[in-house]
Amino acid sequence: MRCILYYLSLLCCLITSPVSADNSRNGELLASTCAACHGTRGHSVGGTPSLAGLDELHIIKQMKEFTSALRPSTVMFHHASGYTTKEIELMATYFSRQIKP
Ligand code: HEC
Repeated sequence: MRCILYYLSLLCCLITSPVSADNSRNGELLASTCAACHGTRGHSVGGTPSLAGLDELHIIKQMKEFTSALRPSTVMFHHASGYTTKEIELMATYFSRQIKP
């Protein structure tokens, strides 16, 4: 009986595994780490640029230029370097879909 319960719970875990995770939700979660400087949903209230409503390809390009130091930066080299291309794309999609401030 215990064995059956074990396999049933294992099956449930497999069904709800991250494979079926929603990409837009992942983008939102990843993007939340940028909020300290770029504001909630990319609406900056400080001196940093707002990301909300920017073109998706523009964001991806900037992130790549930060990591390759093509674009000089104060902090963005460090922030951009911590993400995979896929993660950057997810965040870029998320920010581009937010209403411009
Ligand atoms: C510690 C503050 C800080 C955090 C956290 C941060 N940024 Fe930035 N970001 C900046 C600053 C400051 C600039 C201006 C360039 C520079 O000086 O580094 C910038 C510029 C940018 C730009 C260029 C915008 C443009 O149109 O030129 C993009 C894109 C960007 N950040 C994306 C992100 C993303 C995505 C994250 C989260 C993974 C993030 N940033 C986290 C401070 C931050």
